[in-house]
Amino acid sequence: MNLPNMKAAKVRGAEVVQYLENINKKESAFEGKNYFLRTYGCQMNVHDSEEISAIVENLGYQKVDKMEMADLVILNTCAIRENAHDKVFGYLGRLKHLKKEKPDLVIAIGGCMPQQESVTNEILKKHPYVDIVFGTHNIHDLSRLLLEHQKKQEIEVYSIEGNVYENVLYKRDSKITAWVNIMYGCDKFCTYCIVPFTRGRQRSRELTPILAEVRELKEQGYQEITLLGQNVNAYGKDLANPVSFATLLREVATIGVPRIRFVTSHPWDFTDEMIDIIAKYDNIMPYIHLPLQSGSSRILKLMGRRYTKEDYLSLFQKMKEKIKHVAITTDIIVGFPNETREDFESTIDVVRTCEFDGAYTFIFSPREGTPASLMKDNISLEEKESRLQQLNELVNSNSLKKNQEYLDKIVSVLIEGISEKDSKKVYGYTDTMKLVNVIALPDVIGKIIQVKITDAKSFSLDGEQVL
Ligand code: SAH
Ligand code: SF4
Ligand code: F3S
Repeated sequence: MNLPNMKAAKVRGAEVVQYLENINKKESAFEGKNYFLRTYGCQMNVHDSEEISAIVENLGYQKVDKMEMADLVILNTCAIRENAHDKVFGYLGRLKHLKKEKPDLVIAIGGCMPQQESVTNEILKKHPYVDIVFGTHNIHDLSRLLLEHQKKQEIEVYSIEGNVYENVLYKRDSKITAWVNIMYGCDKFCTYCIVPFTRGRQRSRELTPILAEVRELKEQGYQEITLLGQNVNAYGKDLANPVSFATLLREVATIGVPRIRFVTSHPWDFTDEMIDIIAKYDNIMPYIHLPLQSGSSRILKLMGRRYTKEDYLSLFQKMKEKIKHVAITTDIIVGFPNETREDFESTIDVVRTCEFDGAYTFIFSPREGTPASLMKDNISLEEKESRLQQLNELVNSNSLKKNQEYLDKIVSVLIEGISEKDSKKVYGYTDTMKLVNVIALPDVIGKIIQVKITDAKSFSLDGEQVL
């Protein structure tokens, strides 16, 4: 990527780098100053924001939850669909006003958007008051960029690849549940997707440091860890001495954290061995997010997903048979270029058959540089919106039906905090990742308790603690 004002792009292979010393050192350069961090996008970005928080807090900044109170505003951005991108540009408009009132305000943009050259150029052109631009591969440079920033723009985005960083410091949002990166990037290059461009090629962490991190989290009292990657099932295939995700799961399970989760799974790499391990270990949660994307084999081929409708259905059935009370959720794109009514009906057919516990549904959004953005499309937006609505109605009725199966049952719930809707209740998740609002005293926060389910809605359950 050649950006104006950009310092020489640093292009390296995916080597393992121990986390930079200067980040571990507590600086007091910004003591007494506040920062506001807004995160868009997927869990990967949420976890990256925990790294960003650690970096800026080590420089002396303190977190605030209103941007008006901040001396530093950081936007950790997402590029997955046009509307994610629009949200950030909308927010930049608000920051422009704030900067007028507060000229010393420092605005930093990071995450997936700056990894696209055209977007960084757009930021620089339309929003010259942005102070710092960094990408997903050089988060660790943020401390240096902040220290170097002297009222001129600092732009540093590594264009090609990132490394694998170890001993990364995180300011974790929760003391109960934690994310653990097992890999970075993605090699699948689904034809619609920007992620391989914004996150680079797949780079797995070695097994040993992952296990060490999980052990440390267990010692710190974490009740749940989620193994994180764009395609966790392909974990370890890129290592010099390949390790399978099944092996990683088994090793993590034996450490004994009460709850282990993982996202996201790609159907193509999901092996029988992985299913057997999930079924075997009680502390691997019976919940799988298994993106379908489309139920039409013709569209799946155009998407480069490497499985057919039949492959997906047979994998789904195998999971249902082998993993006790497993819950499966999915992602679906409607309106892929030239998706016919028949293609769409195939998707509806899969959704009817699978009765997913939940589904995230999206209208196809062309992303610059991806093959699908160049495909001719003859389907109108009205038609796409009507398909989305039809799909959502089915998805929501399935979710309600699945949730109703929990009525009057007693289930284990890990309580994470006070319920947002009702301060007299606490909330948590079942092993199958159902949100439950529970009548219980707040001293159960951080504990796994037994809950009797008293009401079921499409997106949550209500219950009371069973003592
Ligand atoms: N790695 C994950 C998904 C990451 S992106 C996986 O492979 O499943 C999350 C979801 O966003 C995708 O599953 C897909 O449904 C959706 N998505 C990705 N690119 C999109 C695009 N160009 N338009 C609409 N939805 C998209
Ligand atoms: Fe994108 Fe496909 Fe990789 Fe998921 S597997 S991140 S959809 S390229
Ligand atoms: Fe968005 Fe980047 Fe995640 S594009 S979905 S934040 S990997």
